[in-house]
Amino acid sequence: MRYFFAFLLGFALLSVTVFGIAGRRGTDFRKPPLEIFDDMVRQAKLRPQVPNSFFNDGRSSQPHVAGTVAQRIGDQNNDTWQGTPKNTGLVTGTTNWVATIPVPVTTATMARGRERYNISCLPCHGAAGDGNGITKKIGAMAVVANLHDQRIAKLPDGELFHVISQGRNLMQGYAANIEINDRWAIVAYVRALQRARLATLEEVPPTDRALLK
Ligand code: HEC
Repeated sequence: MRYFFAFLLGFALLSVTVFGIAGRRGTDFRKPPLEIFDDMVRQAKLRPQVPNSFFNDGRSSQPHVAGTVAQRIGDQNNDTWQGTPKNTGLVTGTTNWVATIPVPVTTATMARGRERYNISCLPCHGAAGDGNGITKKIGAMAVVANLHDQRIAKLPDGELFHVISQGRNLMQGYAANIEINDRWAIVAYVRALQRARLATLEEVPPTDRALLK
């Protein structure tokens, strides 16, 4: 019986000690209580806008280095572009795709579009856009869309831009990899590929028709 009471007393003392030290976590203190496992509650870091002697100007937040370029410029997440047809492919304030490319298309745009298409799209869609890229040949992709498909040829430019940006079905989006202007350049180049395949003889100027026969 003596041992039992001694044990009870010891246990009670131990509990009081343990809870007295460790059990106060979560209570408000000016200073943190003893933390055996701090669970990364406190970390070595600088808060913004507080004095700091490390830098010469005595601030913890430093201004950007001259010439710093913002990353992901023109991205969907960038407010500057939010809601413009150029950013979304949509007519502002509607859910309708813009019919035509909302940026100027020049010879340089087409050249850029071809270059970017050949880098980002050709491996799957093929140089001619018929869906016979290398990924199909090696069996990595079973079905790749043929960009000359009537349905795809009829998609508005804005929707094409959207497919490149966000992907569709099995195809992933390339918004993170291809800058907005380059996406529109690719749209222009895809249109050229489609035209090269789908245009009719009637669309060729009469003087040039003989060359095709
Ligand atoms: C990794 C392979 C891959 C790459 C790279 C790729 N695509 Fe695709 N794309 C596909 C596949 C697969 C489909 C068919 C998706 C489906 O319908 O499941 C597709 C579908 C499409 C469609 C048809 C969308 C529709 O409405 O059915 C268009 C347009 C398209 N791709 C354009 C592009 C362009 C432009 C690029 C380059 C920026 C590109 N793709 C890059 C694999 C790819």
